[in-house]
Amino acid sequence: MEDSMHNIKLKTERLLLRSLTVADANEVFEWVSDERVSRYMVYTTYTSINQVREWLAFVEKDTSTYHFGFERLSDGKLIGSGDIGTAEKNGYWGFGYNLCYDCWGKGYATEAAKAMIEFARKNLGATHFSSSHAEPNIASGHVMEKCGLHFVGYGEFKKLDGSCKMKSADYEGVF
Ligand SMILES: CC(C)(COP(=O)(O)OP(=O)(O)OC[C@H]1O[C@@H](n2cnc3c(N)ncnc32)[C@H](O)[C@@H]1OP(=O)(O)O)[C@@H](O)C(=O)NCCC(=O)NCCS
Repeated sequence: MEDSMHNIKLKTERLLLRSLTVADANEVFEWVSDERVSRYMVYTTYTSINQVREWLAFVEKDTSTYHFGFERLSDGKLIGSGDIGTAEKNGYWGFGYNLCYDCWGKGYATEAAKAMIEFARKNLGATHFSSSHAEPNIASGHVMEKCGLHFVGYGEFKKLDGSCKMKSADYEGVF
């Protein structure tokens, strides 16, 4: 199970979703060190490649969540990453995504999120999905809606280090 879970490849029109490894650290650093990208993510902005290596070493072993790097098919560049896994809320699958700043606004997040949802539906028996975004992060809400989820209410967005707390907009979908 562990090996198969880390070797999944999902192809979309413009992207290859594939597992992340420590060897991706330099490319991943490009967006996780960018405050424009990390602002509404739960992680703290990364300041060194070593921190990214540590996170990727965790990802390589993590069996609780499916992590994917989003590789652009046209040039092989890693442009972002995301994950999908069973959420805290019983029976729901949660997902997330982030992209390097230069790649925003081109539909990539929607393309990748739809592929992760389809993978979970077809291969993992997932039917109930949920996700949420910090309230001002409207683009992410659009991605969730384009994936077929709908707004269900407000909750709380918290960075893992406690440095930021604000309202979240919560979404669900049953497919
Ligand atoms: C959120 C994020 C993943 C969106 O990625 P993307 O590839 O640009 O998303 P898409 O192009 O698939 O769709 C974005 C949608 O939001 C819309 N949008 C973009 N910026 C917007 C803004 N400031 N206000 C309102 N809508 C906006 C786009 O028009 C598009 O909707 P449309 O197709 O209906 O026009 C990207 O901005 C990102 O990586 N942000 C930083 C990390 C992050 O916040 N991740 C989500 C955490 S919940």
